[in-house]
Amino acid sequence: MLRKIYDWIDERVDITPLWRDLADHEVPEHVNPAHHFSAFVYCFGGLTFFIVLIQILSGMFLALYYVPDILNAHASMEYLQHELAFGAIVRGMHHWGASVVIVMLFLHTLRVFFQGAYKKPRELNWVVGMLIFFVMLGLGFTGYLLPWDNKAYFATKVGIEIAGSVPVLGPYIAQFLQGGPVVGAETLTRFFAIHVFFLPAALLGLLAVHFILIRRQGISGPL
Ligand code: HEM
Repeated sequence: MLRKIYDWIDERVDITPLWRDLADHEVPEHVNPAHHFSAFVYCFGGLTFFIVLIQILSGMFLALYYVPDILNAHASMEYLQHELAFGAIVRGMHHWGASVVIVMLFLHTLRVFFQGAYKKPRELNWVVGMLIFFVMLGLGFTGYLLPWDNKAYFATKVGIEIAGSVPVLGPYIAQFLQGGPVVGAETLTRFFAIHVFFLPAALLGLLAVHFILIRRQGISGPL
């Protein structure tokens, strides 16, 4: 049955080359830990991606219950955490994943740096990687405000003040982030939109470029 559906689609839009391209790709020996144990360092990019997927999935489920306004945000998190079935687990995955993904991202970046994998011809992918890095930090910063408790509020206040102290552009960045005269309703709405729409869209686009470049250029090495 499935085979028939597959053949029906394939006959019309020729999808076989799409997955063959990946399936027939041989992983080089120097990145296989079964051959050289030290090759485990190549796992960190894939692990980062795995946790990014967990963040997207758990975030989608959180969004079913989270209410992005200052009167209800905190109560909706309390409900999610303490009353909703599996709520604490899904929130826990998103909460801890947010930290683990930064650790993995850091290890991946260190691997690329210390192996000199950013050198010609991979300079462009390093630059794409740096953009991804900033997007990931932005996701962490904007997500932190959403529970709308004291820790969230004051961390954001401090973060915006730090951004505001940047020479020349600082006040504009702070105004853009805060969205209004104080850290308040406008800030929460804005951080929510940036956290669930703007930055994830940017991340997916950048990751697509990251992966296309890796596929085109092949993995670097052996050293
Ligand atoms: C969400 C973030 C990221 C994901 C999911 C990701 C994923 C990957 C994956 C799966 C690879 C294949 C090799 C490996 O796993 O080590 C790779 C390679 C690479 N990544 Fe990333 N990456 C991310 C962020 C970054 C950052 C922040 C940088 C640098 C600033 C970077 C620079 C590179 C470069 C230059 C390569 C090619 C390395 C080589 O050919 O040896 N990536 N990335």
